[in-house]
Amino acid sequence: MKERFIESYQAVRRYTESLCSPLEIEDYVVQSIEDVSPPKWHLAHTTWFFETFILIAQLKKYRLFHPEFHYLFNSYYQTLGNFHPRIKRGVLSRPTVKMIYDYRKYVDQHILNYIQNISEIDFNELQRLLILGLHHEQQHQELLLMDIKHNFSINPDFHFYPINNGIQKAENPITMEFTFVEGGVVNIGHPGLDFCFDNESPQHQQLISPYLIATRLVTNAEYEEFVNADGYKKPRYWLSDAWECIQKQGWEAPLYWKKINNKWYEFTLAGMKELDPFTPVSHLSYFEADAYARWCNKRLPSEAEWENYVITNSFSIRQGNFLENGYYHPLPAASKTPQQFFGDLWEWTASAYLPYPGYKATAGSLGEYNGKFMNNQFVLKGGSCITPQNHIRATYRNFFQPDKRWQFSGIRLASNIE
Ligand SMILES: [Fe+2]
Repeated sequence: MKERFIESYQAVRRYTESLCSPLEIEDYVVQSIEDVSPPKWHLAHTTWFFETFILIAQLKKYRLFHPEFHYLFNSYYQTLGNFHPRIKRGVLSRPTVKMIYDYRKYVDQHILNYIQNISEIDFNELQRLLILGLHHEQQHQELLLMDIKHNFSINPDFHFYPINNGIQKAENPITMEFTFVEGGVVNIGHPGLDFCFDNESPQHQQLISPYLIATRLVTNAEYEEFVNADGYKKPRYWLSDAWECIQKQGWEAPLYWKKINNKWYEFTLAGMKELDPFTPVSHLSYFEADAYARWCNKRLPSEAEWENYVITNSFSIRQGNFLENGYYHPLPAASKTPQQFFGDLWEWTASAYLPYPGYKATAGSLGEYNGKFMNNQFVLKGGSCITPQNHIRATYRNFFQPDKRWQFSGIRLASNIE
């Protein structure tokens, strides 16, 4: 058991660093907006997580790498004391990138020593916490690419990130169809045997009425019709907060779309590209996904509808387009069969991010990990093209505020039975 964990630990930690290897030293420091963190902050914060919740908590004689790092790299754990304001993460030229890589090495050595020297019984007791540290780091692998993309988009002509160039362009559109789902009383949430986050528990029953769910994600061409029909200018499609948001922000299209000489382009991690009509539309807020669905006389699926359909049909996670593919971009649908549930884009659901009945937050400071965000946010399902493949499950609950759109998010439509 220990050996397997050590292998996973080293693989996950190395992978994070490999995602940063194409960066120049200046790229590590930039924070384009408050939501984004500089790459070097992610590298340090994920290390702080292991240092705080494992080394400091378990080893009385552990010596901190640096006494100020707790203040600088605690993200939001109020019960652990004050922390550096999120909005100012990008103004720290020190500690240097080199010092942060040294910090990673120091903590890795201590973690590996510690695991090698504890008994199997103690290891088993700690295993869940150690695995949480790895899943936390994988969440930050996704955040790293989301944030690098946003940082680069501010100056798009200068920036690109190496991608796998083997993306096949679709020649023809695949028709969107709707599958009938019977509903009924269904199990929702994680059954609790393997690892899951506390917000996926407890498994419980929900009653779902019969519904229709789309076979694929909404494409750029389909969303462009909404844009061309002045969808962003017609208040009848928008929730009240959404309308206020698009007025204030001046939104007229998805985050990375740009019109040049009357043609739409899209900023990708590989730089500015002409908009591909059959690729799923991405980087949409909940507000935009909801407005688009209303414009189509459809709606977004609820979390329970999405999860029930995916579990009942046993869609394969392995076939999804995930981080390891190296495309860092969603792929067009390949056939009429229901697809794209895992990978490609996180799918907005109509469900508010709330605790499941009987939810119990993890004990201690880690109770702040998920539970305290259960207000004013919506659930997204399925993972994206920058999610590590072995990080996702059908019961996984991602969540963002409805105006956020720097994450890789898209739209799957659903409908009531008329
Ligand atoms: Fe974190």
